[in-house]
Amino acid sequence: MERAASATALGVTVLRAVHQVADGAPRVLDDPISARLVDPAVLARAVAADGAGAQALRAHVVLRSRFAEGRLEAAVARGVQQCVVLGAGFDTFAYRQPEWARTLRIFEVDHPASQRAKRERLAAAGIAVPENVTFVAIDFAATSLQDGLATSGFDPQAPAFFSWLGVMMYLDETAIDAVLRYVASRPAGSEIAFSFASADPGASRKVEALAAAAGEPWLSRFDPAVLRRKLHEHGFRAVTLLGPEEARRYFGERSDQLRAPERVSIGSAVV
Ligand SMILES: C[S@@+](CC[C@H](N)C(=O)[O-])C[C@H]1O[C@@H](n2cnc3c(N)ncnc32)[C@H](O)[C@@H]1O
Repeated sequence: MERAASATALGVTVLRAVHQVADGAPRVLDDPISARLVDPAVLARAVAADGAGAQALRAHVVLRSRFAEGRLEAAVARGVQQCVVLGAGFDTFAYRQPEWARTLRIFEVDHPASQRAKRERLAAAGIAVPENVTFVAIDFAATSLQDGLATSGFDPQAPAFFSWLGVMMYLDETAIDAVLRYVASRPAGSEIAFSFASADPGASRKVEALAAAAGEPWLSRFDPAVLRRKLHEHGFRAVTLLGPEEARRYFGERSDQLRAPERVSIGSAVV
């Protein structure tokens, strides 16, 4: 039986939408598209129910997108022309792409049902799919990225940027290693930006329980030092894990309650 569309993908879209309409300045992520993909009543309920837990999760979700998009911009500046969004969900980058991204080929990879749900919501909101976007429907626990991307127009001989946000925790270590092996064997200059569930669960147990209740159990957690070692063992050259001090710079001086995460759970690795 085909897996249902991801509920967690919609959940993080609601968080990004709340950031646009309810948080103060400066915005960590400017994303006018997310709110257009969410049912207005759902968005209003999320704003009304806002509290410390939702704020903490929202801070993480907007930061990881902002961080990854910054890394992508730097990759484009060094000549990378392909971007693969792994477990894209309702990621909105392609639908608000800045001028510097126009020459990119963007590949959105996700389960078929999640991808269908996204295309339906985009169409309902009157948001066109840009010409530089290609959808690749695979389950990367079952199909290798190499096979999945083979017929998509992706050029395996050219460097690529991979965005892997909010996905690693839904994969077991075998599937994670397969993705990392593939990315690490791309040409020099390629990069992957990712987020992961920390081995120190803290408040994330609640998020984990909500995901499990939605039929999307978490299958992996990492101590940051262990993940860093794994990335180097896969052959990545430069590994960056975003620490709390650097994270705070994205949040600036603010009058609202949104605070940078203290836990290390976002990073990137360059081939
Ligand atoms: C929490 S959502 C994150 C979505 C998006 N990256 C974001 O940050 O908004 C997790 C996404 O990973 C996708 N996903 C999880 N396991 C997957 C798998 N084995 N193969 C393909 N996609 C998967 C889900 O369909 C969902 O879209």
